[in-house]
Amino acid sequence: MTRSAMNQVRPLHDLHPSPSDMLAEVIDGLSSHPRTLPCKYFYDARGSALFDQICELEEYYPTRTELSILKQHAAEISQTIGPSALVIEPGSGNSRKVRLLLDALESPAGYVPLDISGEHLVEAADKLARDYTDLPIWPVCADFNQSIAVPKEASDAGQRLLFFPGSTIGNFGEQDRQALLERFAQLCRPGGGQLLIGIDLIKDTKRLEQAYDDKRGVTAAFNRNLLTHINRALDANFAVDQFTHRALFNRDHARIEMHLVSEIDQTVDIRGQHFAFKAGETIQTENSYKFSVESFAENASHAGWQFERSWSDPENLFSLMLFSVERPQNS
Ligand SMILES: C[S@@+](CC[C@H](N)C(=O)[O-])C[C@H]1O[C@@H](n2cnc3c(N)ncnc32)[C@H](O)[C@@H]1O
Repeated sequence: MTRSAMNQVRPLHDLHPSPSDMLAEVIDGLSSHPRTLPCKYFYDARGSALFDQICELEEYYPTRTELSILKQHAAEISQTIGPSALVIEPGSGNSRKVRLLLDALESPAGYVPLDISGEHLVEAADKLARDYTDLPIWPVCADFNQSIAVPKEASDAGQRLLFFPGSTIGNFGEQDRQALLERFAQLCRPGGGQLLIGIDLIKDTKRLEQAYDDKRGVTAAFNRNLLTHINRALDANFAVDQFTHRALFNRDHARIEMHLVSEIDQTVDIRGQHFAFKAGETIQTENSYKFSVESFAENASHAGWQFERSWSDPENLFSLMLFSVERPQNS
């Protein structure tokens, strides 16, 4: 028997948003001023592959820095977490970082990778299963804004550890961030649980802007792929080449903003709705908020998370933070 045949990944739990959800969100975003599009729709199969390429870029320090923090402090992180954790990773992507965690944890009870990008998720879960032959893996394809359903069979597997690396939390503005952190806390009740989360720290503008506007144009292709995805999924007719990528650090809001700028006056049709763009008009496609360890700990405390520990790299570029919620007294 080959190693891959020994660990059967559990069947995909598929709760992917429907095309009608996507249509409503896209219309809503393009009708608002300034215009926006939800960043979760970057991630079709091509978008996920482009994001994996971004993670390898010289300019994109977050991935290698977070990996180095995990490597350096794995033993301590694992000790603080304790044995038999059920690791749930919303926005799991290629499930690369979780390997370092799984290698360090004592007897992890299982792994629930959850992502909106279904094909990429299944591929990553299969790959992981080849190397972690005894680990139960329950992949879930879902929008973590709508539902973080833990499959029934997994739900009592162990004490819950939410792993949320990659600075994905930075994509949320204050209110949505608070709501997500509250939902994460709910998910860890009634048994109590922990949150290990990666945050990108505030730093100089040049370094930040280069990370989101690389020389090879991979981030530009990633940004424009959002329009290609919408064209395919919703029969839209964005002239993708007539939009230019722009990334800038808005220090007042401590966030990187990614935009697509219309090069010309043009009209886009989506299922009978028309959106007229003037040359120079932009669609805001992503925010990536930056934090200090203190400001993020404060944010999370309002959602019921108690700060335990944090680990950073020597340059203070990035931080991994560990929080806990307790089981309610009367349960
Ligand atoms: C910034 S990447 C991080 C990937 C990986 N966790 C890492 O640290 O490298 C964000 C990931 O979250 C997924 N994602 C984004 N929005 C999502 C949503 N609303 N629901 C589920 N997954 C989402 C994307 O498909 C992508 O894999």
